[in-house]
Amino acid sequence: AAQPAGAVAPLNTYAIAHRGVPVEAPENTLASIDRAAALGIEWVENDVQRTKDGALIIMHDTSLARTTDVEQRYPRRAPWKVADFTLAEIQKLDAGSWFDRRFKGERVPTLRSYLRRVDHNQQKLLLEAKEPGLYPGIEEQLVTELRRAGWLDRRHVARRLVVQSFDAKSLKAFHRLRPDVRTGFLGAPKAADLPSYAKFVDQINPNHKSVTADWVRAVHALKGPQGKRLTVSAWTVDDGRRAVALARLGVDGIISNAPHVVEEALDEE
Ligand code: G3P
Ligand code: CA
Repeated sequence: AAQPAGAVAPLNTYAIAHRGVPVEAPENTLASIDRAAALGIEWVENDVQRTKDGALIIMHDTSLARTTDVEQRYPRRAPWKVADFTLAEIQKLDAGSWFDRRFKGERVPTLRSYLRRVDHNQQKLLLEAKEPGLYPGIEEQLVTELRRAGWLDRRHVARRLVVQSFDAKSLKAFHRLRPDVRTGFLGAPKAADLPSYAKFVDQINPNHKSVTADWVRAVHALKGPQGKRLTVSAWTVDDGRRAVALARLGVDGIISNAPHVVEEALDEE
């Protein structure tokens, strides 16, 4: 409906839970996903990597050291790379105590257990292929896991799923496999380069410090491979005032460690 004279249009910007809600629960764990759901945050962002024996797991760093007790459990295996450990070894790790004793015993989730935990009917998934160059063929594996868990069913795929990466080559490969799945490029290509990305991505998701109104307009002027306007989700913003400022620059999504704080600030506008 037309706005009355002088009225400010409501902000349509939404928050995305970055690695779950890592200000309240250990990042990239099922506890963190559950926290996002409990706070009513629809979109969750998490990172996927691959173990030595080929299992996909949810983990941000390429080393297990920061977010598990791997150094104590396997002291002689520095630098504790994800790719050097089997799933059975990783499943023995405590991924919660480093954050708070209340989360002792929290495990590193497999992608499979994670995809079962995120509710198709309530939540939306922004899944990042982290460092896919380290894991050749991960795109096919992602498709298999997503299909098996029902995320590629037509009713979910169109509205509830985006696969993102810093790696354009990997996104192109993923897009070729499943053109029906939306993809997001992590970065802020200059305006002149955006049309080449619009051939295989639906979102351009930049560091929030790169965002200007002109750049957002340049992204929005393009249509993605499915014929829909490209969108912008900026990361990582935990301050409500900054989130509102980005929304006023036209940003569609705000990826946040404190998505409930961001959502509240956006709602108040
Ligand atoms: O979703 C954007 C953001 O997650 C990208 O950076 O390092 O937190 O995965 P990073
Ligand atoms: Ca990420």
